[in-house]
Amino acid sequence: TVLSIIVTIAAYLVGSLSFAVIVSRVMGLNDPRTYGSKNPGATNVLRSGSKPAAVLTLLLDAVKGWLPVVLVRWFGPQYGLEEGTVAAVALAAFLGHLWPVFFKFKGGKGVATAAGVLLGISGWLGLATLATWLIIAVFFRYSSLASLVAAVFAPFFYVLGGGQAWVMDARIGVAIAIMSGLLIYRHRENIGRLLAGKESKIGASKKGS
Ligand code: G3P
Repeated sequence: TVLSIIVTIAAYLVGSLSFAVIVSRVMGLNDPRTYGSKNPGATNVLRSGSKPAAVLTLLLDAVKGWLPVVLVRWFGPQYGLEEGTVAAVALAAFLGHLWPVFFKFKGGKGVATAAGVLLGISGWLGLATLATWLIIAVFFRYSSLASLVAAVFAPFFYVLGGGQAWVMDARIGVAIAIMSGLLIYRHRENIGRLLAGKESKIGASKKGS
């Protein structure tokens, strides 16, 4: 429907707000695209040395994924929007983060936004995926590795929980699988660094390459 297309475009526009860049600019910090991994994301903003900026980036990038999904889930049915639109806005917000229209289509890797999207789809799904991220992050101290493992698990969590913890919908399942695939693809440089033993650990201020 027309409404479904409009909300999907709106989700893409919201997703295009690259909060790593916006927060850094507002807080008077260097542009995250110029240092560390050059990635506009919370992990790299942390390398600026400002924890508050990193936390704010993480939260806002997550909210922009979470909000479109919950808005459609809560209010969509009154307007004839169902799971297909939930899947569409989820993917659109994520794609906005990766290829933001406001930032020359040069965006981030999608970790925080995907986490927000998953929390929006189901609190349990989001928590299971976040727990996976946290366990790997605590044990190995690599943000990228934690993100990669969580991305591999997320689609399986969705399928496993479907029918009990939440209603399983194939379109939402496909959207999650596409998000995971793109997220992993965006980490190809990180994968190279991890294999070479050159990835920077959480808390370290400099990138190995
Ligand atoms: O969350 C993004 C993280 O997985 C990798 O970020 O800056 O280390 O490439 P970065």
